[in-house]
Amino acid sequence: METSVKMIIEGKEYEFPVIEGTESEKAIDISNLRAKTGYITIDEGFKNTGSTTSDITFLDGEEGILHYRGYDIEDLAEKAEFLEVAYLLIYGELPTVDQYAHFTQEIKYRSLVNEDMRKIFDGFPVNAHPMGVMSSLVVAMAGFYPELSKDLSPEALDLHIRRLLGKFPTLATWTYKKSQGHPPNYPKNKLDYCENFLNMMFALPVEEYTVDPVVASALNKLLILHADHEQNCSTSTVRLVGSSKANLYSSISAGISALWGPLHGGANQEVLEMLEEIMNDGGDVQKYIEKAKDKNSGFRLFGFGHRVYKNFDPRAKIIKKAADEVLEKLGINDPILEIAKGLEEATLKDDYFVSRKLYPNVDFYSGIIYRALGIPTNMFTVMFAIGRLPGWIAQWMELKEQKQAIGRPRQIYTGPVGKKFVEISKR
Ligand code: CMC
Repeated sequence: METSVKMIIEGKEYEFPVIEGTESEKAIDISNLRAKTGYITIDEGFKNTGSTTSDITFLDGEEGILHYRGYDIEDLAEKAEFLEVAYLLIYGELPTVDQYAHFTQEIKYRSLVNEDMRKIFDGFPVNAHPMGVMSSLVVAMAGFYPELSKDLSPEALDLHIRRLLGKFPTLATWTYKKSQGHPPNYPKNKLDYCENFLNMMFALPVEEYTVDPVVASALNKLLILHADHEQNCSTSTVRLVGSSKANLYSSISAGISALWGPLHGGANQEVLEMLEEIMNDGGDVQKYIEKAKDKNSGFRLFGFGHRVYKNFDPRAKIIKKAADEVLEKLGINDPILEIAKGLEEATLKDDYFVSRKLYPNVDFYSGIIYRALGIPTNMFTVMFAIGRLPGWIAQWMELKEQKQAIGRPRQIYTGPVGKKFVEISKR
């Protein structure tokens, strides 16, 4: 491997170091490029730009590999609990029995939300999108812990991490309860993380609710599969906001807003709405494939394509299998699943999708499971956010450890030059 590369700019030779990761990825370190040469690089959409080194997540888009802290995603999704994975991402190692008991207990004790937060929540109209509400409530949490900007000790940060992990699912269920005109449920410490969320979502004051273990286990798997994905749009947002030394809550709130977008986490809601539209339109998947191929239509097949995966998304493979299992175990026959499979099969034979390496991504089949679990479509992206929360926290913590400079990209100005001010009356 090269340890440095040479660049010739305006006839002069410059040398830049090469850095290599533990999985043999290589990068040219151009941090001194402008200082040495006066040039910057342009890389719209950051397709070739590494914003950081990181010890958290490795993915190989060509091979369809995803590892958290060196562990294969398939192994974790099959065998671990979501909070074990959260601990792994945030603290770097899988917890011991004692560490895990302490961690989960602490999170349970933090799941109750300050009643004054409800006054903020009550101000939202009933049809407000849950992602906007979540982003607002998480940034509002910063106001309840004013000490957080002064005390950045490991103990204080641990407390904020546990507060966020504990309260996030509680807040998430408020929007659903409001949409139903039902009172919110308080968390129950005897339940585990997934059971507690499901209980807060679906229990009613008028009758007993028992969490179905099939549902809790499917949710656990989905949350693990969403827990981190290195420097994607929302995570990069969390890191960029955090790089200004903004607090954890405001950084995570910004990440939630980024995730909301339909090209990112918002795609899971779009996928289900698209599949419903295809079904209600007679189920002709080919018609929608042709529409997606027509650049003038402005239409994309949601749930297809990925910036990094150019072979397949390993998460989609696991979720597709899980969707089959969950629907069978719950005895649900959802015609939407058939539409989804028909769409996938047709795209795999279509040169437009094959040549552009557009395969189903994590969002393609996840909505079918969420739907089977009774989660409303407008909450799908919130489910993604519940899963991604530990990843955002881990990345924010790593950024803090790395003591990175504030994120501040440059640009090449292409606007008008040398204009003289003309008074308004003379324009
Ligand atoms: N349907 C139709 N054409 C597509 C699609 C699609 N879903 N995705 C990409 N293309 C085409 C695109 O038009 C372009 O064609 P051409 O080369 O002829 O101009 C080519 O494929 C490359 O697309 P791109 O937009 O340059 O690729 P990108 O890496 O910038 O975008 C993406 C990646 C995920 C935003 C994009 O594939 C997309 O919009 N997919 C649909 C939305 C979606 O499912 N998002 C979830 C992503 S996975 C989870 C997450 O990140 O949260």
